[in-house]
Amino acid sequence: MCGIVGYVGKREAYPILIKGLHRLEYRGYDSAGVAVVSSGGSLNVYKCRGKVCDLENYTKDKDVSGTVGIGHTRWATHGEPNDVNAHPHYSESKNIALIHNGIIENYAVLKDALIENGYTFQSCTDTEVLVQLIEYIKSTTGVSLFEAVQAALKRVVGAYAIAVIEKGNYDEIIAARKSSPLVVGVGDGEFFLASDATPIVEYTDKVVYINDGEMARINRHKPLKVVTLDNQEAEIGIEKLEMSISQLEKGGYPHFMLKEIHEQPRTIVDCIRGRVTPDGENVVLSGVLANKEKFLNARRIIFVACGTSWHAALIGEHLIEDMCRIPVEVEYASEFRYRNPVIYPDDVVIAVSQSGETADTLAAVEVAKQNGAFIFGICNVVGSSIARATDSGAYIHVGPEIGVASTKAFTGQVTVMAMVAMTLAKEKGIMSQDEFREVAKGLQALPSLVSQALKLDEQILDLSKMFTYAHNFIYLGRGYNYPAALEGALKLKEISYIHAEGYPAAEMKHGPIALIDSEMPVVVLATANNIYDKTVSNIQEIKARGGRIIAVVSENDTRVKDIADYCITVPAAPECLMPVVVSVPLQLLAYYIAVHKGRDVDQPRNLAKSVTVE
Ligand code: F6R
Repeated sequence: MCGIVGYVGKREAYPILIKGLHRLEYRGYDSAGVAVVSSGGSLNVYKCRGKVCDLENYTKDKDVSGTVGIGHTRWATHGEPNDVNAHPHYSESKNIALIHNGIIENYAVLKDALIENGYTFQSCTDTEVLVQLIEYIKSTTGVSLFEAVQAALKRVVGAYAIAVIEKGNYDEIIAARKSSPLVVGVGDGEFFLASDATPIVEYTDKVVYINDGEMARINRHKPLKVVTLDNQEAEIGIEKLEMSISQLEKGGYPHFMLKEIHEQPRTIVDCIRGRVTPDGENVVLSGVLANKEKFLNARRIIFVACGTSWHAALIGEHLIEDMCRIPVEVEYASEFRYRNPVIYPDDVVIAVSQSGETADTLAAVEVAKQNGAFIFGICNVVGSSIARATDSGAYIHVGPEIGVASTKAFTGQVTVMAMVAMTLAKEKGIMSQDEFREVAKGLQALPSLVSQALKLDEQILDLSKMFTYAHNFIYLGRGYNYPAALEGALKLKEISYIHAEGYPAAEMKHGPIALIDSEMPVVVLATANNIYDKTVSNIQEIKARGGRIIAVVSENDTRVKDIADYCITVPAAPECLMPVVVSVPLQLLAYYIAVHKGRDVDQPRNLAKSVTVE
């Protein structure tokens, strides 16, 4: 969602804010703005519709001096993306400026009350209500800005990460969070503030994660102060940031997405490092082993996730049921949280989230917690809200994912799920050592298999040129390949804006086959497995109706090659790991089609990387 950045210290704030906004742009990119307290004490707000580079153009001839400031890149929730609705928002007197990520649910009531007290509003946002409320409290009670923010937040219902600065105050930013992340970077006589650590990493590796329901006084001359809304002093834990700047740059690739697709051999190495023993005899996933009784005695395992992570969870369901014979359910977090689900104290809930910040997944975790379930997290971002809210977990260790379309996180999630299933299967003693070793060796070989699949790059580039015309696509798969088909369709639609649907191949004849004509490209995942023959029959059914078949097949395939219009050949892996291998050509296909269509691949329209609102 929106990105927040702040700086207070001895340097000029503006260049730090702009650089930070560029780093955070993947979180939202419909408008951007900054507020800086100038050396003369005035509070200057500059904001406009568009991307951060538009903001830079807009501020070229403006006074952006000052050593304290806040910046924001927006993903609109209330009010269309335009100059006025962009953040920061001024208070009535223009003495206070505020940026916000989240949604103030009771903004309408608060707004009416403020209007009655003579306040006027410029924007359609919920955020402007909050800054006005802060000013109202401050001016009517004479309290400090910190106290006014605290009092205002007690009256707010909703989710927020905010940063507030005030005219004439060169030293201080007030920040607070509820259900939306905030991290403070601690430098030498200076502080940085951001929605995630990416804007901070080049200045300091010392960070403090603000917890839910806490607010911070960030004053360059004083130690960092963190309290709850009830003014209980919170413990400040300074953590070391494990991130490098090169991970945040494109490294010669035209887009982050392509870079991240090509990083997968290395990210899978990082994911399995120290977990699969070199002899392939064991998998050590400490977060599972330390809680093995919970898993082994679980009545059910329930995955909660959204989007791509939900697709990975569907593969997790196959893996765990297949290898461990534990019943598994997969839930959309957004549905689970609101439908009064049956959760038993002996259920294990696995929350899957790249960002670790997705609001619905976090809320689903809370629902499960209230019902006494044991919660395990599979996250990428270290120290993220979901990672911290769970009882235990396993990181996927794929490094920062900046492209809005998730790629390396998906393959990392599937890899971790395979290791979770193997760890449990071994503990349960229901998988023969030969079978176990075969999958473990498959995991060790995955990086090289993915490297081989990446060599398809040129073939897929050529193929993609033939399909830029398409308005619709169908993706089919069965078994482990079915969720991979769903994921392939999602990749295509989100970055190329071509309508695409994934189905289990055999479901076609129950309705969707009516869509097939000679214009319809159908991507079929037809790699060798125990239902290969059935998949071949499904391909025949499409072919008979004139569909244009792009098949992803195994190296030794003979039958599909004769039927399909185009074949993409991938190397063989154990069947349960094939979703990782087949995903690579599907990611590349979506990428190149989007590029040919001139789409903004890393920042597709209407999307944001981390969905921290409902
Ligand atoms: C698609 C994509 C989204 C995310 C979803 C969940 O490419 O990235 O569908 O998978 O928003 O995000 P996380 O995994 O961060 O919870």
